[in-house]
Amino acid sequence: MDASDVGNDLENILLTQEQLETRLGEIAAQIDRDYAGKDLLLVGVLKGAIMVMADLARHLHHPVEMDWMAVSSYGSGTKSSGVVRILKDLDTDLSGRNVLVVEDIIDSGLTLSWLLSNLRSRGPASVEIASMLRKPDAAKVDVDVRYLGFDIPNEFVVGYGLDYAEKYRNLPFVGTLAPHVYSS
Ligand code: IMP
Ligand code: MG
Repeated sequence: MDASDVGNDLENILLTQEQLETRLGEIAAQIDRDYAGKDLLLVGVLKGAIMVMADLARHLHHPVEMDWMAVSSYGSGTKSSGVVRILKDLDTDLSGRNVLVVEDIIDSGLTLSWLLSNLRSRGPASVEIASMLRKPDAAKVDVDVRYLGFDIPNEFVVGYGLDYAEKYRNLPFVGTLAPHVYSS
């Protein structure tokens, strides 16, 4: 799928496929170094993290296990409240494991900060975060992102796993939507 497949729904391409690819390669090299000789469990947060997880895992030389969690944050509209419900829990016991949470985007940071304390309560050896994108509001919550792709402006973005009303996840780049998509 490419920009031409979504008509005039996109306003702007924020990060190209090449930019995402290059940055993921750099992050993967960093992870390879940091976890050399250690076990590593990647925990992807469904559904947005699917693309980052798939591409990051393929860039790694380090052997990893992968598991998935699905969470839903109670809140009105597009803003999360920080009150989180687990829709799908991990299959893996975290005790003694090195966990790397893989996220698509950190906006308010509320979901992730809840997730971190939840995962830390399960007795892992370590829990770190890798996120492809981060918005400015994330700075308000004290969430330490160990591996970050890009800081982006405070705009609603789609593509590379990110959706608007479950659409646009399979665009290979990150872009902003044209206003008519929201208002229609
Ligand atoms: P928060 O950090 O708790 O506010 O929520 C982050 C989650 O909200 C992400 O994992 C996404 O699923 C979703 N989200 C936040 N910003 C965007 C966006 O610009 N486009 C698509 N989804 C977003
Ligand atoms: Mg997410």
